[in-house]
Amino acid sequence: MLCSEPDTIPDMMKALVKRNENQGFDYASVPVPEPRDDEVLIKVDAVAICGSDINLYRWNDLARVIATIPFTPGHECAGTVVKCGPDANLPVGTKVAVENHFYCGNCFQCKHDAKEICTNMGQFGHGRQTPYGGCSQFTIVPAKYLYVMKHNLSPQQTAVLEPLGVAHNAIEKLNVSGEDVLVIGCGAVGLFAQSVAKAMGANNVIATDIDDHRLNLAEKMGADVIINCKDENLKQAISKRTDGTGMGRICECSGASVMVNSCFSLLRKGGRLTLVGLPREPLHVENVLQDIVFKALTLKTVHGRRIFHTWEEAEKLVADGKVNMDHIISHVYGMSDFENAYSMLISGKGCKIIIDPWK
Ligand SMILES: NC(=O)c1ccc[n+]([C@@H]2O[C@H](COP(=O)([O-])OP(=O)(O)OC[C@H]3O[C@@H](n4cnc5c(N)ncnc54)[C@H](O)[C@@H]3O)[C@@H](O)[C@H]2O)c1
Ligand SMILES: [Zn+2]
Ligand SMILES: [Zn+2]
Repeated sequence: MLCSEPDTIPDMMKALVKRNENQGFDYASVPVPEPRDDEVLIKVDAVAICGSDINLYRWNDLARVIATIPFTPGHECAGTVVKCGPDANLPVGTKVAVENHFYCGNCFQCKHDAKEICTNMGQFGHGRQTPYGGCSQFTIVPAKYLYVMKHNLSPQQTAVLEPLGVAHNAIEKLNVSGEDVLVIGCGAVGLFAQSVAKAMGANNVIATDIDDHRLNLAEKMGADVIINCKDENLKQAISKRTDGTGMGRICECSGASVMVNSCFSLLRKGGRLTLVGLPREPLHVENVLQDIVFKALTLKTVHGRRIFHTWEEAEKLVADGKVNMDHIISHVYGMSDFENAYSMLISGKGCKIIIDPWK
């Protein structure tokens, strides 16, 4: 069904495009695409950039693994429906967020309620089965990958639901109610994990990082205890806090290999661990028997969000005021100023950086 078309869709638009292996993106004028089949044309209201986008910007070895040129970047995207292809029927004006894991619907996982880990997954903003991304005034997304907003969140909050969802998925797998939780890494995902843990009834949330600025944010996001693991021996600090028993719940959100390797040794027997961060080196655990097997621990890992269960829960947490995004959204840049946005992201001085494609 064709939804009614507004009279304001221009022929040309501005978009960031990765066309070659050079550093950076082109700030280009490109045609506004036409939605076909079940595709939806959305006007992008805000797009957030995240650490993984630095790889795409620089085009390093990891970028070659996670993305395919050419593409428009921006996988954390909020928008408004402006036009539907013949097989899509979302009303014009609907506020949406993009689930960037483009699942196939036919593989084993897709048929067993685990679409987020689809075998044949495409990825929006990474040139995987779609050239489109959110760093664009308009973009194209098949209707089944659009999350229709139920509450009145701002475009910036809507864009940042994606990393909040990663944190929610990770914490939900830990059963944190009544437990003390250690969150390693206080980037956007770790900070959200701390708030979500509190919202899900965790007892004390302990946050650790090597950056004091990030640890200050952790206090604002609800962490009860902060530990700078550059200045303090984390294992000793945890041992002291737990009378030598170890942590019952750990959520690893730094992706630093040294932390991923050592977090097993911080767990108590029977403890639960979720790995979220992406280490660049092979896993190396020194005492496999003592730190893993004899602990009878539960290891969970996450990739993305449960579709769309996580989105509903994460949106509700923001709408109910249980997760405050204000401390995490640190900067807003116009898309024409994207180079400064990336410099700020790379400097590590910001946290979540939003790009407005209309400026
Ligand atoms: N599994 C998934 O689905 C998924 C989704 C999104 C992001 N990620 C990954 O999760 C991680 C967190 O994402 P983010 O956007 O918050 O990243 P980020 O880079 O903003 O945050 C990482 C944090 O870890 C801290 N850190 C670095 N080295 C450390 C160390 N040795 N000890 C303690 N803290 C250390 C940094 O100071 C920073 O605050 C990244 O590795 C990212 O690639 C995974
Ligand atoms: Zn991201
Ligand atoms: Zn699939």
